Amino acid sequence: MENIKSDIPLVFGILAYPASHSLSPALHTAGFLQWGIPAVYKRFEISPSTLAEFFAQNVRTQKISGLSVSVPYKEVVLPYLDVLEDSAKKIGAVNTIFWKNGKLVGENTDWKGFFQSLTHEYDPREKTAVVLGAGGATRAILYALEKANIGKIFLWNRTPEKAQKCAQEFVNVQTISSDSFPNPEDIDLVINTTSLGMQGPHKNESAIPKNFWKSHHTAFDIVYTPRITKFLQDAQESGAKIISGETMFLFQGMAQFEIFTGLCAPQNAMAHTLGLSFPLENFSNILQQIVQEKWKTISFSSKPSVLNSLKRDHLFYNTLQKKQKNPHLIAEIKPCSPTEGTLFRNSDTIEELAKIYTANGASAISVITDEKFFGGNIENMRKTRENTPIPILRKDFIIDVSQIYETYKYKADAVLLMRSILSLSRIQEFLEICDSLGLDALVETHTKEECIEVLEKTSARIIGINNRDFKTLSTDASHFKNVFQEISQTHPHLLASRIFVAESGIKTAQDIALFASNAHAVLVGTEILKAKNREEKVKELSGNI
Ligand code: ATR
Repeated sequence: MENIKSDIPLVFGILAYPASHSLSPALHTAGFLQWGIPAVYKRFEISPSTLAEFFAQNVRTQKISGLSVSVPYKEVVLPYLDVLEDSAKKIGAVNTIFWKNGKLVGENTDWKGFFQSLTHEYDPREKTAVVLGAGGATRAILYALEKANIGKIFLWNRTPEKAQKCAQEFVNVQTISSDSFPNPEDIDLVINTTSLGMQGPHKNESAIPKNFWKSHHTAFDIVYTPRITKFLQDAQESGAKIISGETMFLFQGMAQFEIFTGLCAPQNAMAHTLGLSFPLENFSNILQQIVQEKWKTISFSSKPSVLNSLKRDHLFYNTLQKKQKNPHLIAEIKPCSPTEGTLFRNSDTIEELAKIYTANGASAISVITDEKFFGGNIENMRKTRENTPIPILRKDFIIDVSQIYETYKYKADAVLLMRSILSLSRIQEFLEICDSLGLDALVETHTKEECIEVLEKTSARIIGINNRDFKTLSTDASHFKNVFQEISQTHPHLLASRIFVAESGIKTAQDIALFASNAHAVLVGTEILKAKNREEKVKELSGNI
């Protein structure tokens, strides 16, 4: 979401003709509501004769921040765009349009949707597939199958020339005709990309006869209205496994949502609009509530004019990477929390706490600035800065670039970026902005999977592993150690030149001893603030006794 400049809601929408049937408005609106994003999602039913005018007057003028694109425009829109992402280029079709660095970009998330919904339930590696059809969606499917390391693909289409043209662009694709259809025994997976079976005159048709199906087959239909097409029904009745196009639609929409907003797609809320449900939610209610409130407090300010000499000089990173006997202590100033209630005592001041932390061995101070849920304040960064020379981490729920500029303005040294909220590409974007200001970022993860993807797909140098389970809100101090050890066994190459911070649930020096050899730093707030003698607690946790 590049262009938040005011409190006016951003406009997204579906570009199609007709567009009245589209489920995209419900899907995206559910996502916006879940995070409280100030955005609306409209239907742009634009006739071919007015498409050029639509782009000139609404898209180019940036009145629209992003578009989903559907029939008949996935290929037609290409000349209207400035840049195509690699997948869209190879597929030759775009289903997502968005602004990036002042350029109108085309991306294709159909292939991702297909890839995820297929691999969610099935391992396509080295398998043999038949793909039926050579229409608008087929190249996205072939692209995804290649990415999924499928063994071999047979491509069939009613009009063979179209299949041949399509096959030329891919390595493992061989065209077949109705006369040379392979033996069912030699096939593992059958994918329908034709429009047969779709609601309408061809609803009761399938591109292959029912007697083709065998129980070892898996059938995937990209048509999702109706949910169970004739193709899937035949397969199911023959004992084959079936995958409906609905999950592909959901996953392409989730990928699109992440591109539009930079936030993680709320899977359950989006799935619910399609009548689907997933047993596992990917983040907690409290996090959603906090972010919903956060939008209301952001003052969407523009970039500061930064002189090189005024750049922060990565004090946070440079401090934490210095080797010392015990992990560095990042001591936190946190007036209250949703799980602990009030932590400050009546006489507490930010200034005094900053001095206590500094004098007793903390290497850095984390300052919580969220007001509503943690009782913090933006001014607390300034007050801390005036009372300590050690680096300051600004801890808040960062969702907009203006919060990073604000952190810089208030002279903190680092920000917290949370994987539970931000998409990977938004994290990378924010990391680059931080870097341009000389700020550091602590990228917080919770699970092993989150940690690995951050390590693999971003340039984050400081990684937090949070011991708090966001679903239950409980903490387990051994979580850091378990995650770190698993990653060091499976992905040791990802650990080099990175700094790891253990967060949450750390109470004593004994807790720290559990992972002292792996963590460069520990972040502790609650236990220090609750301690009778905070000076002693800071000494204990920083190993400064
Ligand atoms: P496009 O984007 O090319 O307009 P589409 O509507 O996305 O096409 O896809 C239609 C696909 O369904 C094509 O593979 C089409 O086959 P042809 O290339 O032969 O047209 C296929 N299709 C549509 N109606 C069909 C039918 N009655 N029997 C078999 N295949 C059919």
